[in-house]
Amino acid sequence: MSKAPTARLDRLLANLGYGTRREVQGLIGAGKVVLDGKTLRDIGQRLAVVADLATRMTVRGAPLDPPAPLTLILHKPLGVVCSHREIGRSLYELLPERWRARDPVLSTIGRLDAETTGLLLITDDGGLLHRVISPRHHVPKRYRVTVDRPLAGTEAALFVAGTLVLEGESNPLAPANLEPLSDTTAFLTITEGRYHQVRRMFAAVGNHVTALHRDRIGALDLPQDLAPGHHRVISAAQLSAVFTPDQN
Ligand code: URA
Repeated sequence: MSKAPTARLDRLLANLGYGTRREVQGLIGAGKVVLDGKTLRDIGQRLAVVADLATRMTVRGAPLDPPAPLTLILHKPLGVVCSHREIGRSLYELLPERWRARDPVLSTIGRLDAETTGLLLITDDGGLLHRVISPRHHVPKRYRVTVDRPLAGTEAALFVAGTLVLEGESNPLAPANLEPLSDTTAFLTITEGRYHQVRRMFAAVGNHVTALHRDRIGALDLPQDLAPGHHRVISAAQLSAVFTPDQN
């Protein structure tokens, strides 16, 4: 079993966004940091950084934020943007403010357009991020698509052929799976994440996407009880579903 990494108490708290090193030293000095019922006073004390610290330690009487590595599942609502560089309300505003000061930083695993809703993973684990978004790993992402004209019936064969070249590109898309649900709705499962990929695939067949919702990554479903704008922490065991081939 690999040993848990350790961190100095003041650095651990600073990296979780509780303040600068000096500010968190003040917190510790004021007796505001408690572990297993005992007040911690030594700013340089080294602690094993394990997930259950969040249940054993309190800061100002509240449970410690989850230490890194941290991965969240978020139900992205309409109208928020995933990148710090885009104009508009950022989805990071949906998370506790302190989390914006964490080191390592939290980033979305891939992006959804402002007008796309659904399952978004957010992590501070760079290796995980790379494994999910790298086209080499072929992680399937499923979207529920609504279009404004009835499906022609020929889209599924075209998308699965792996020959469709999007406007302005030269490499064909990897095969994608379309399951029509009605005349104007379908599930589309893709393994890449090209810019506006789903919208551009339907534009390529003369249609227009009016609503787009991601409900699954690998075999990880957006929980039914997770309302738009809400998030929850997910465990390594739950995350493993991302890399499990979709059984449905
Ligand atoms: N494809 C799109 O066009 N938009 C998204 O947000 C995701 C996939």
